[in-house]
This record gives sequence, C-alpha cells and structure tokens, in this order.
Amino acid sequence: MPAQSMEELVSLCKRRGFIFQGSEIYGGLQGFYDYGPLGVELKNNIKAAWWRSNVYERDDMEGLDASIIMHRMVLRHSGHEATFSDPMIDNKKNNKRYRLDHLLKDQKADVIAKVAAEMGESVDNFAAVVAALNAQPAKASEVFKTAGVRDPFSGEVGDWTEPKPFNMMFKTTIGPVADDESYGYLRPETAQGIFTNFKNVVDSTSRRLPFGIAQIGKAFRNEITPRNFIFRVRELEQMEIEFFVVPGTDEEWHEHWLEKRLKWWEDQGVPRGKIEILDVPKEDLAHYSKRTYDLMYDYPTLGHEEIEGIANRSDYDLGSHTKSQSELGLVAKVEENADSIAKLTIPHPETNKPVVPFVIEPSAGVDRAMLAVLSEAFTKETLENGSERIVLKLKPHLAPIKVAVIPLARNKEEITSVAKQIKGELQSLGLGRVLYEDSGNIGKAYRRHDEVGTPYCVTVDFDTVGKGEDPALVDTVTVRDRDTLAQERVKISELAQWIQAKLR
Ligand code: GAP
Repeated sequence: MPAQSMEELVSLCKRRGFIFQGSEIYGGLQGFYDYGPLGVELKNNIKAAWWRSNVYERDDMEGLDASIIMHRMVLRHSGHEATFSDPMIDNKKNNKRYRLDHLLKDQKADVIAKVAAEMGESVDNFAAVVAALNAQPAKASEVFKTAGVRDPFSGEVGDWTEPKPFNMMFKTTIGPVADDESYGYLRPETAQGIFTNFKNVVDSTSRRLPFGIAQIGKAFRNEITPRNFIFRVRELEQMEIEFFVVPGTDEEWHEHWLEKRLKWWEDQGVPRGKIEILDVPKEDLAHYSKRTYDLMYDYPTLGHEEIEGIANRSDYDLGSHTKSQSELGLVAKVEENADSIAKLTIPHPETNKPVVPFVIEPSAGVDRAMLAVLSEAFTKETLENGSERIVLKLKPHLAPIKVAVIPLARNKEEITSVAKQIKGELQSLGLGRVLYEDSGNIGKAYRRHDEVGTPYCVTVDFDTVGKGEDPALVDTVTVRDRDTLAQERVKISELAQWIQAKLR
C-alpha cells in the first residue's frame, strides 16, 4: 500500500538522507530543499529515465541545456513580466502575506460558502470565486472581513487588504554596473531557453517538422506560500519538451503526448489509476495556452494535485518572440517575401514556405515526480514473525543503490577483501551505484536497505571464503531480494550476470 500521509514520507526522507531543508543550520530557507546522498541518486535516475524515453528512444527529439539567467527581453516578450503573477493579500493586523486562493482554500467550508455567495459565484466553482475576487479587489477585501476569513498564523479574522498581483519571477542584477537596465531574470520555466534556441537547433541539426527539443533544468518561482514539503518550492526542477508541429496537426499531437506521458508515469511505478486528467477550464489557462491537460496525481494528504501539465502553446511563444524581434529591428525585413520577416520559422514540410510552428509542451516537475515515486514505492508490511518493516518498492532503474555488498564480519580481511572485489566488479557493470556496506550488523543493514529501496543485498560470509561448515558453498554468496525476502546462494563467477539479468 502506498504512503498514507505526507508525514510518513517527510520522516523517511530526512531519516535516510533523501531530502533536507535548505540552509538548515541557519534556521532554513522556506521553499528551498537540498537533496542528500540518496535523494540525488533517485533524482538523477528519474531524470535519466525521462531523458532515455523522450530523447534516446525517439528519432524526433534533440536535447538542450540553456542558461538559467535570461535576458529581461525574453521574459518580457514571453508575457511573463506582465502575467506571471499570483494574487496576494495581506493581513494588516500582523503584516502576514498569503496567496489569495491558498488562503481561501484553507478556510472552513461555511466561510468559503459565504465568500462564494457574496461574490455571486457557485461554491462548487472555486476557480470562478477566485477570479471574481481578483476582478473586484475592493469588494474582495470587504467580503473577506465580513465572511470571517481567518489568518492561519494567528487564527483570528484578519483585517484584509485588497488582493493585488505579485510577480513570481526572481530578478537579479548582472555585472558590476547596477543601472536600471542591468538586470535579468532567473527563468521561471525552462521552456523559454528552448524557444530562444529554436533557430540554432534547427540550423545546426537540419530538423524538419515535426520534432521536439527536450530540456531538464532548474526554474525559479518566488512562490507567495511555498508549502507541502517539495511539492511547492521556490527553486524547482523541470523536465520539459517543446514539440514543434505543423499548425493544424497540433490537436492530434496533443493526444499523442497525453498517452505517452501517462505510459511513462506508469513505467516509473505511478499507475494511471492514481492520475486524473484535468482538461483545464478556459478561464484557468495560462496566458500562452490554447488547451492544457493537467495530470493530477493523488498525493498522500494533499489529494489530487498537478504533477505535469501538457499544454498546447499554439504559436504563442515563437510568434511573440518573432514579432518583437522584428519590432525591435533585430530582423531585417525582406520585402519580396513578407513571411520571411519572421526569424523563428521553419519551412512547412509540404509547401516549403516559412511557418511558425505550433507547440505541444509536456512539462513535468522533478520534485513532484520524486514525491509521487516515493509515495507509490512506500510500503509498510507485517512479516510472518509479526514484525513490521518499511520497504521502498522502487522500480530497480530508479533505486538509488542497486546492490549493497555486505561482508558478514567487517574485521576479517579474507571476507572484506572478497566483498570489496565483488563491489568493484558489480560497479563496473554500469548499472548505477553499488555500495560496499560494512556499517553495522546484517539485520540492521537489511532494514536500512529495505527502507531506501535497494533491490539486492549480497552477503559475503565464512562459507564464501572456505571458513564455514559447508564446502559446497565456497565461492558463493547469499543474494537477498528486497521484495520477496527470498535468499539465494549464487556463485561469485555467475553473480554479475545474475544481477544484470534481474536489474534489466
Ligand atoms: N513551461 C510550462 C510550465 O512551467 P507549469 O504548469 O507552471 O508549466 C510545470 O509547471 C510543472 O512544473 C508542474 O506540473 C509541476 O510539476 C512543476 N512545478 C511548477 N511549479 C512548481 C513549484 N513551485 N514547485 C514544484 N514544482 C513545480
């Protein structure tokens, strides 16, 4: 059974070294997390699985790694300067600041119902209530007070300001000159690095439509209320594809990517049955979107929340950058062919005329993927002897440690040297991390490796080195299976092949 609560996951992540609070020794920094020894392995494995499936296993994809800090003009013409904001509201009594929709969602049902009624909206349409509050800020402030909206910090009814938009982009100065123009933004989505490199990739690879560009990287959002562990953070990582298609074929490709992405999640141990597909209502669509499917995974404690968005961005971004390029005089106007003033175009595969392609964008959060994968793998079992164990039943390709090699006696050179040799040999197979584990007794080592999801533990004992009672066991080791707990004696000479077959 998957994790029942977020607390279970948070506790495991901290205890076993998956995830720590950022800047913890100075009291922590809200919305920032550090990935520990096992977290970095799991995260890398998730990213590698995504890259393998979306880049290596397709013939219509290129990869990219663009810079994080971007020219302010990119984010101006992408629409982020004007629209990438969330509504915030302050309590004048204690100067606490909240994201309007989060604040409302956290109220008791009768308070939400009162607010909805006052704003003339159905309580069942939360998005419409929030939209009405944003559209009428003065009334929103009054209604929050009369309906009794409480401050989650003080527990008292707040003296609420009018909501106003808060732009979530992190701005930073660039270079030693601090004039008004010397600033850039930390990208709020990796996507813009793909759009701005569209022409570079097309020119250097001779790609024709349809094709995609994939990128994994950090993005930054100054969230008003970061919360729920790594679910909503200020420094996040995204796995994004911009898939460029001939206009008119976009809806078909949108369905293609929806299917592909659901299948990928399933391959990572996140079943379809746990993901609801939300066809995002028109009024909630991002400024660039023609249509978006949000994949809503059923997170423990939180319920269904977005793990990935699959958007049809139409020709919004390339079109907008093209337009601004030409307005800024960065692209020379070619009189004889008005179409070619557009820089970010590609020849139409049939007519050969320049066309601004449409874009389908599957965009998944790495941090949210970690939470989902951990949640699905988390299992509490009662064993035959009545004891309880926690085991992470991760798919082997995601497991942070593939094999732990354990010498039964850590002070016996004849045993440790064989264990070290086996570790070296298994490590060289390129399956991922193999750990030489001599930190405690065997029972504790098994418990620890169950909790971090190590598929196999290999134990070297006295029999292995001919100091035991059974001569038939010389040059063999015990291999313990994480899920079945079955223990098998395997010849050292056949071990690499045995492990390889099981893990692949
Ligand atoms: N380029 C499109 C885009 O950025 P989005 O829906 O804003 O779309 C895509 O973000 C994904 O990034 C989300 O589905 C989620 O998994 C992840 N994400 C967004 N904001 C996040 C945050 N503050 N913390 C963690 N993950 C986040």
